Amino acid sequence: VPWNGAVQEVWSPVSIPGQDGLKRKLVGTIPHTTPTESMEALQAAVDAYNNGLGEWPTMKVEDRIKCMQKFVGLMINERDLVIKLLMWEIGKSLADATKEFDRTVEYINFTIDAYKDIDRESSRFQVAEGTIAQIRRAPLGVVLSMGPFNYPLNEIFTTLIPALIMGNTILFKMPKHGVLAHYPLLKAFKESFPKGTVSTLYGKGSEIITPIMESGKVNVLAFIGSSKVANGLKKQHPKVNRLRAILSLDAKNAAIVTNNADLDVAVNESILGSLSFNGQRCTALKLIFVQRGVADEFVKKLSEKVSALKPGLPWDKDVKITPLPEADKPEYLKGIIEDAEAKGAKVVNEYGGYTEGSFVFPAVVYPVNDTMRLYEEEQFGPVIPVVPFDTIDEPLKYQIEANHGMQVSIFSNDAKEVASLIDPFVNLVSRVNINTQAQRGPDVFPFTGRKDSAEGTLSVADALRSFSIRSLVAAKVNDTTKD
Ligand code: G3H
Repeated sequence: VPWNGAVQEVWSPVSIPGQDGLKRKLVGTIPHTTPTESMEALQAAVDAYNNGLGEWPTMKVEDRIKCMQKFVGLMINERDLVIKLLMWEIGKSLADATKEFDRTVEYINFTIDAYKDIDRESSRFQVAEGTIAQIRRAPLGVVLSMGPFNYPLNEIFTTLIPALIMGNTILFKMPKHGVLAHYPLLKAFKESFPKGTVSTLYGKGSEIITPIMESGKVNVLAFIGSSKVANGLKKQHPKVNRLRAILSLDAKNAAIVTNNADLDVAVNESILGSLSFNGQRCTALKLIFVQRGVADEFVKKLSEKVSALKPGLPWDKDVKITPLPEADKPEYLKGIIEDAEAKGAKVVNEYGGYTEGSFVFPAVVYPVNDTMRLYEEEQFGPVIPVVPFDTIDEPLKYQIEANHGMQVSIFSNDAKEVASLIDPFVNLVSRVNINTQAQRGPDVFPFTGRKDSAEGTLSVADALRSFSIRSLVAAKVNDTTKD
């Protein structure tokens, strides 16, 4: 559908010198989809699916994969421009923006490969109690896909690609920050897939997404972002029980550094886990528990290393700290740091929390305790709260009481201790990392969470399963057909 709504200016978090000092740079303009156009896009997706009888859901999977391969070919032609837009729009470093683009392409190729396993599962026959059944993987219908600004391409594609391959039709809303990075790919979608198979929306959720959800015509909500927004969207569907939701949501992942840890490994991995892309990752380590015996030494090493990280613009060589795209984030971070300071913690590293415009230098805050906002709130930014503890019951209590359960990282060189910690945490989160940071990848691994962290499972093969159902074609076996 065309976009004829109000035109929005897209401002970069990167400031450039102007006559009146530093100013955010205008990187482009983009029209919103109007509410009418959004409903037209929805109808196009409904018509293209046509109750499972449309061209796309009935097309042979091999042909759907050919369309996907054409798309990847066209997408690769836009690599340089998309990477440039990711740097300007969300302040992602050249290395991380390049990784995001290449990882997205790799993800599509992995998903195409993984389809072969799903196909083997599908074409199997099962015989039981005199009945023979062929198992078929069948699509679910119209999928509404939305993702956050931190991986504007990658996150949406981890739902959109498997959903498409399985024969669903898609509506996707581009994120507020990172919208321009999608723009060069729109033509590729148009040239690769039949009409109505993929439609793109942009604008305010309350204007263009609420009416879509309220129509009851969406079969699957694929959403990556906050649980608050996800729950609101689910409630808008008139028959919530008919809506399948595949969600990846809140997380405040803890690291647990015991007295037996290799502190250099723990420090390096905590920095990677807490500060990659300025801590703006659902999988980031957002609370570091350190056992009392090594806490001071850990904090000293951590502070020194954090203060040595190179700040700069996304395209600067070896840059580690870049501007933040969300305009209100610096003020929010300042507020949670001040709250911790008022309750007895300190920013212990040089330059910690220094703010200029959209730029915040990472702060190591110590000692944090459970009365502080930093203990509870998902900061999604460059602040590392360090919590000293005496016995493992303390981080365990944190994880038991938390509303989320995505990942934990345990740092210890004592194999017995590690073994004793794996079991309780495996039952509280969806991934336990040993002596390494928290992260989603490798992307072929299942990606999910407990409590408010997720619904359903993403990643290549699991996502193909999530966006389809196992349908059966069953028949009675008589003596002549038994074999
Ligand atoms: O923000 C959530 C992303 O899925 C995290 O991915 O661990 O590869 O940074 P990542």
